[in-house]
Amino acid sequence: MNDRLEGKIVIATHNSGKLREMRELLAPHGIEAVSAGELGLSEPEETGDDFVTNALIKARAAAKGAGLPALADDSGLCVEALGGAPGVFSARWAGETKDFAAAMARVAQEMKASGSPSRRAHFVSALAVAWPDGAEQVFEGKVFGDLTFPTRGTRGFGYDPCFTPDGYTRTFGEMSAEEKHGIPADGAQALSHRARAFQMLAASLLAPADPS
Ligand code: IMP
Repeated sequence: MNDRLEGKIVIATHNSGKLREMRELLAPHGIEAVSAGELGLSEPEETGDDFVTNALIKARAAAKGAGLPALADDSGLCVEALGGAPGVFSARWAGETKDFAAAMARVAQEMKASGSPSRRAHFVSALAVAWPDGAEQVFEGKVFGDLTFPTRGTRGFGYDPCFTPDGYTRTFGEMSAEEKHGIPADGAQALSHRARAFQMLAASLLAPADPS
């Protein structure tokens, strides 16, 4: 069993959007986050075929490179009719130009070609923490829902406009950041896969949030 995470940690990302989101989540718990990019660490190749393996690859490399506890996330969209694709290839389906309209069009087209009537899908977020001494822990959050075509909404990022979470009629692309990613102050379950994984991590490894 590891100690709590406290003080300074490294976020194993070179993505400024992810870094901002992680910093906002960690700050109320008294954690100062630097990024692997800011420390000049190189990005390891994500060679795993599942989210947990890829998150661990990134967290281990950053913990070793920085000599600090490291936090990494790996996430994506899994479509039932496509046997779980795009899954760990979610970012790659958008190509070099990060064209998620094209990635969502590919999902729609491959679902049609599959002949399956299922519109079910889920997002997964694996959060891995690795310590320089080799200890590690993983937390996995999921949110299930239906794919929605034509897509709706301009908020969020990635596949948000084509995903309607269970219990809602609006897509993630039609929701505010607070509604999608917010951590409810009353301890209720958050909505997004990433926020759910973070709630598990916080309950296990972080000091209680200071709301001030
Ligand atoms: P990663 O940076 O390797 O974790 O890639 C994750 C990819 O999955 C992103 O580029 C998005 O395409 C997709 N993804 C993950 N989480 C979300 C989300 O909350 N909304 C929409 N797309 C997401």
